[in-house]
This record gives sequence, C-alpha cells and structure tokens, in this order.
Amino acid sequence: MKPEERYKKIYKIYDYFNSFASFSLDRWWRFRAGKLVKGFVLDAGCGKGEFTEFLLKNREVKKVIGIDVAREMVKEKKKYLSAIFMLGDVHKMPFKENKFDFVVSAFLYRNIEPDKFFKECRRVLKGDGRILILEMGLPDFFIIRFFYLIYLKLLEVLTSLIFPKDLGQEYKFLFNSIREFNKGESIKKRFKKLKILKINFGFAYVFII
Ligand SMILES: C[S@@+](CC[C@H](N)C(=O)[O-])C[C@H]1O[C@@H](n2cnc3c(N)ncnc32)[C@H](O)[C@@H]1O
Repeated sequence: MKPEERYKKIYKIYDYFNSFASFSLDRWWRFRAGKLVKGFVLDAGCGKGEFTEFLLKNREVKKVIGIDVAREMVKEKKKYLSAIFMLGDVHKMPFKENKFDFVVSAFLYRNIEPDKFFKECRRVLKGDGRILILEMGLPDFFIIRFFYLIYLKLLEVLTSLIFPKDLGQEYKFLFNSIREFNKGESIKKRFKKLKILKINFGFAYVFII
C-alpha cells in the first residue's frame, strides 16, 4: 500500500498511538536528534510536524521546510509552528539544487525507496550538506531485545483486536518494519563514513551521513 493511503487511515490516531506505544519516549528521541542539525533544514516526511517542532527549538536552525506525501497529515499540521509545510514526495523533491544544509527524516526511512531518496537528498543539499535519519530499531542487549520483541508482538495483537482490520494491517506492517530495520544494517552497508547515535539502548538510532 502507498504511504499516502496508509497515513490516510491512521492520521487521526498517529501521534497519540506513538506516544502511548513508546511511553512518550518518541519525543525524547526527536529532541536528541533535533539538537544535531543546523542551518536551512528540509524535514522529509514531516507528518503533522512532530519532528519539525523539535527542530525549531534548536537555535542553530534558521528555517525549516517540511514535505509529506500524505495530504491528511499535512492538513493536520501544527499550525503554531513557524515552518513551511508542503505536499511532496521525497523520491522527487519539489526543490532546486543546492538549497539545504540538512535533509532530516524521523521515522520515514522504513517507508521509502532508499536509492531514490538519497539521490534526491544529494541533489537538494549544498555541497557540504548532511543527511540525518532518525529511526526506531532493535536494542543491542540480548535481554532488553528479547522483551522488546515480545512487546512489539503484543502491540501487534492489540492493534489487530481494537482497530478495524485494515488499520490493524497497517500497524502490522509498521511493527514488522521496525524488526526488519534492526540496527540500520542497510544504511551501514550503503555508507562507509557515517556517525551513529544509539538512543535508549537502541530503541532508536540516529544516522548522520
Ligand atoms: C511515521 S510518519 C513520521 C512523521 C514525522 N516525521 C514524525 O516524526 O512523527 C512517516 C511520514 O512519512 C510520510 N511519507 C511516507 N512516504 C513518503 C514519501 N515518499 N514522500 C513524502 N513523505 C512520505 C508519511 O505520509 C508519514 O507522514
């Protein structure tokens, strides 16, 4: 299913469910990642502005533009934020070359085609521009990882029971994608030079490329 169709189904509960399922740790992850950027920033897959909000709290960030492919998410944007929100696909970004200091994404990477995404990032970034990716993954430490996998399974069962079938299926996809992402092996393979920040034992990872 296309992301715009997926988020059309879950946009109303998206942020509430995130906070519930992560015990609000997702806000801490965005806060940590948002501290690492500066200048003119493109928030790719901005959703309702959940990450944008933390980017704007960083004084070194001059301006933020957010793009998202799901109309419903952009429509529900946090209106009090001084950022520009636009409809747009990260595989074909609606910008000219050499524009941004940072392209950042929070919880987008598991939804997209990396080849197209990175190519577009390079095109719209200035010569020394950087890419920051924040993602949920699996912790390193065996015991924590074991219980976290059980927790993910429980969430999967819970969502399949309380939500209509199609919504449950969407959450199943999202939980699966966390397991598949693991510790970001696909990013590590692609880039030799990158900074990695592991947050909360590896429940979340930040990659700076
Ligand atoms: C998990 S949400 C993350 C939203 C927000 N960044 C956050 O921190 O909560 C992923 C977002 O990426 C968007 N998305 C998925 N594929 C996309 C694409 N190809 N281009 C633009 N946005 C996309 C979805 O519509 C959704 O709003």
